[in-house]
Amino acid sequence: MAVRLDRTAKQRLVDEISHWHHAIDLGDDVVTPGHKTPHHFYDELRRLRLPDMANRSVLDIGAWDGFYTFHAEHAGASRVVALDHYVWSVDLRKAAEYTTRQHTAGQPIRAFHTVKDLWDPVGLPGKRGFDLAYRLRDSHAEVVVDDFMTMALAKLGTFDVVLFLGVIYHLEEPLRALRRVRQVTREVAVIETEAVLLPGQPDQPLWQFVDAAQLNADPSIWWVPTIEGLRAMCLAAGFSRAEIVAGPPPPEELRRRQSNNYRGVVHAFC
Ligand SMILES: C[S@@+](CC[C@H](N)C(=O)[O-])C[C@H]1O[C@@H](n2cnc3c(N)ncnc32)[C@H](O)[C@@H]1O
Repeated sequence: MAVRLDRTAKQRLVDEISHWHHAIDLGDDVVTPGHKTPHHFYDELRRLRLPDMANRSVLDIGAWDGFYTFHAEHAGASRVVALDHYVWSVDLRKAAEYTTRQHTAGQPIRAFHTVKDLWDPVGLPGKRGFDLAYRLRDSHAEVVVDDFMTMALAKLGTFDVVLFLGVIYHLEEPLRALRRVRQVTREVAVIETEAVLLPGQPDQPLWQFVDAAQLNADPSIWWVPTIEGLRAMCLAAGFSRAEIVAGPPPPEELRRRQSNNYRGVVHAFC
């Protein structure tokens, strides 16, 4: 049911959430203080080149705070499903404290689900932001709390558009993941990822293994593909066509950023 609150009440509820990943517009000039800012989303939306979602069914795998779930609803999608489980099960305040503690002590950062007190798949402390935004936006999206890699896909059905944004590099088995994405896709899957440009091998279909929290101090990142590696793997997973819609930035920009990594996007068609 719609919740009608004034600006001050909304802002108070937003401030009670310890960590926001997404900047989400809740009306009355209240925008959640997401790590991904409105500026970030402006840029990301340009790179994603999302297909028309009006009157289409949309699955948002790895929804987190729900920016893309709500975006699909706003775009007129006929059915929207938000699916997540990992960060929803993490106490993000304690996880941030744990990360700082380990970093300061020069100790390795372990995957959050293996650390006592951080993991609560029943209470779902990391879902509080999503739940609040869902209520305040009067969302009607269906919400599924499950692991996309182990759940019965028949439970989901199939979707015209599948959003698989920032998820694949967290998964131990990317090819199996893409096969599962293919299973639930009727038209197009939008796959966004951390990607790497390997000097001298721009067109090679490679996947770089990332071990021991080497990237962003995040122990849940396993694989970073070249964009051609992602495109080729989409075809191997059963998509009939895969198109790179955001590839490597110009070399001077990578030099300026002192990194060969960037965010890439592939549209994979059935
Ligand atoms: C980097 S965040 C991306 C969030 C959002 N899609 C975006 O682009 O801003 C990765 C998300 O994938 C989710 N995730 C990771 N493994 C998953 C799995 N096996 N099943 C469902 N969600 C998963 C995490 O919980 C997290 O919300």
